[in-house]
Amino acid sequence: MARATAIPSQSFLEALVSELKILLTENIHAVAKDKLSEEGFKVDLLAHSPSEDELMQILPQYQILGIRSKTEITQKVLEANKHLLTIGCFCIGTNQVDLKNARKWGVPVFNAPHSNTRSVAELVIAEMISLSRQLGDRNTQAHQGGWVKSAEGAHEVRGKTLGIVGYGHIGSQVSVLAESMGLKVIFYDIVKKLPLGNAIGKATLNELLAESDFVTLHVPETPETKDMISKKELMAMKKGAHVINASRGTVVVIEDLVEALKAKHIAGCAIDVFPEEPASNKVKFASPLQGLPNVILTPHIGGSTEEAQYAIGLEVAESFRRYLRIGSSSGAVNFPNVDLPVKQGTSRLLNVHRNEPGVLGEINGIISKAGANIEGQYLSTDPEIGYLVMDVHATQVQALAEQIGKLSRSIRTRVVY
Ligand code: NAI
Repeated sequence: MARATAIPSQSFLEALVSELKILLTENIHAVAKDKLSEEGFKVDLLAHSPSEDELMQILPQYQILGIRSKTEITQKVLEANKHLLTIGCFCIGTNQVDLKNARKWGVPVFNAPHSNTRSVAELVIAEMISLSRQLGDRNTQAHQGGWVKSAEGAHEVRGKTLGIVGYGHIGSQVSVLAESMGLKVIFYDIVKKLPLGNAIGKATLNELLAESDFVTLHVPETPETKDMISKKELMAMKKGAHVINASRGTVVVIEDLVEALKAKHIAGCAIDVFPEEPASNKVKFASPLQGLPNVILTPHIGGSTEEAQYAIGLEVAESFRRYLRIGSSSGAVNFPNVDLPVKQGTSRLLNVHRNEPGVLGEINGIISKAGANIEGQYLSTDPEIGYLVMDVHATQVQALAEQIGKLSRSIRTRVVY
């Protein structure tokens, strides 16, 4: 580690950063490497998803790891690589990482939950128009030599009512886009939300269902949203209405939707997510919805665009930069979230410890014994660990970090500047 000073010099900061090596796997978008290299980190790339054995061999050289959804980070990998500072999932989901053990070893895990919001919203808009004009069926027929030129059952979306269930990041984007095309927007959310534009919040799901020409679902997967749209809800919808689901596969009861489509109560649907999805592009996909008219089926591509991949690359690289440079853990999915501005003229010490009584007293005891001045101290805890950020005036900040690091309950201690 580099030498410590009372007021960190630029060269001291650069020395800390240039000692850190980052491995980005699974063809993570090039923008991530560009951004992190510009910041002075050494970045290596791996095109594929490394196996557990490969990770065991290569990880000792790296302090920071970037993965996408295919690389499994197991307890074994984490226990053998306790030097890892952070892991970034350059995707939305984080269940490929053993988050509990990562936290146990003081490793915050970052992801990019909202980088693909706009991509999903745009797909929903396209699907609304496609369902209104039965584009899926006309396209298939034309490819097969059919010529079905007819206005019957084809409608403009202008003036129709769109019901959005879940008015969060995606739902509210859909709201803005739909309104600009002349739709009337209503929404239902369990949390009180500020309506955007002229959108109107509805008090109950049933009210929304009864008024909507299109119902689009943008809720998370929770016990409450499981089977949220079943026979009862479908029958509560207007005859001839449409259902769009690009949220989670568990939200709609597919068999009930099939029945409602066959009974022509529901005029069409666009489904991007399914209760069971193939594990890879090589596995065959089967659904009872296949072959039904005006049914658009897509393989969970709502958020899959090049723009979203770029945004994900930038978002996680920025989380790395903020954690490594200033100790900000904001956005980490398994770790107390702390976000503090840089304090000029001080050094910053980070400490992750087991959350047991008396730890803070021990740390402060070391600091006062060394005659160091604490300029700011911020502690955030969860039931298992505490994350302490300290801004100190000290001539020997590195020595201080070493002493604190030796405490039996310290998991990780690091000087960031
Ligand atoms: P978000 O967390 O920003 O919004 C979800 C909203 O649903 C929140 O406002 C919440 O209060 C509301 N909500 C929760 N439970 C509810 C309930 N029982 N009834 C009504 N409202 C409820 O989430 P975001 O980013 O908008 O994502 C929405 C969904 O889209 C998630 O399920 C996510 O997994 C999925 N998604 C799908 C993608 C795809 O490729 N198809 C890509 C990205 C996200």
